[in-house]
Amino acid sequence: MSADLIDGKAFAEKLKADIARQVSALKEQYDLTPGLAVVLVGEDPASQIYVRNKNKSTAAAGMNSFEYPMESNVSEAELLDLVARLNNDPAVHGILVQLPLPPHINEAAVIDAIAPEKDVDGFHVINSGLLATGGNGMVPCTPLGCIMLLRDRLGDMSGLEAVIVGRSNIVGKPMAQLLLNENCTVTIAHSRTRDLARVVGRADIVIAAVGRPELVRGSWIRDGATVIDVGINRMAKEDGKSRLVGDVEYAEAAKHAAAITPVPGGVGPMTIAVLLKNTVTAACRQANIPEPELSSDV
Ligand code: GUN
Repeated sequence: MSADLIDGKAFAEKLKADIARQVSALKEQYDLTPGLAVVLVGEDPASQIYVRNKNKSTAAAGMNSFEYPMESNVSEAELLDLVARLNNDPAVHGILVQLPLPPHINEAAVIDAIAPEKDVDGFHVINSGLLATGGNGMVPCTPLGCIMLLRDRLGDMSGLEAVIVGRSNIVGKPMAQLLLNENCTVTIAHSRTRDLARVVGRADIVIAAVGRPELVRGSWIRDGATVIDVGINRMAKEDGKSRLVGDVEYAEAAKHAAAITPVPGGVGPMTIAVLLKNTVTAACRQANIPEPELSSDV
């Protein structure tokens, strides 16, 4: 068997086109231009690339993009001050502070200083609480992107066994909540899980989000499973160049799975598309106007 490819890049392009249509309707009907502020502390090269892509996509969708680069030695107080100003700025509907932050800054304090209704990452403790209790808060972008790909591929997921490898606040834990909402039987596995191969082997749906290159071996995947690989790891090659690999051993996994996301071109592009969607949602909620529906083909 050779798995179907789940083309996150193509799906994200459709979603972004849909969002651009929504943004132009919001401008026309309500004179509302959604605005996203992105704060980047320091010069981490991977973060710089993410932020550049985010800013480009925001502008391409017709939204306002506000950039706040800060020196890596900025104090926590200065960062909190910026967040407070953005919370009070009516042109800013979404605030994203790029993680990780330098070690002298308390990440949780900064995230929880963002007004929950502007927290387009869905990381604020209020939003994670709302997700856990069935409320209508902001939902983290990467897990929501994974759910959109899964719904598109599988439709109804009731009763399926889902195994998530990785327990981060950004992906693993919110992913578990979203899969529970889809009526899956959910297991979160992690670095201390006994016999990971056996746990992964019973899954109809595997979500790999550990940040360890090819930790999930292809031979573990049950025949016919759907595999979503959230990992993006840069590996050095012998010729001095590098290549991106996921958290799943792709070539072997593709022999067993019914469908699998590639790296790159799988989950990565969905994260940015969902960030734009969350920014539109945040802008509509703040302006007290109905949230636009996605068109039926996304
Ligand atoms: N760093 C890596 N992924 C993310 C993300 O989705 N949001 C933020 N704020 N930082 C990140």
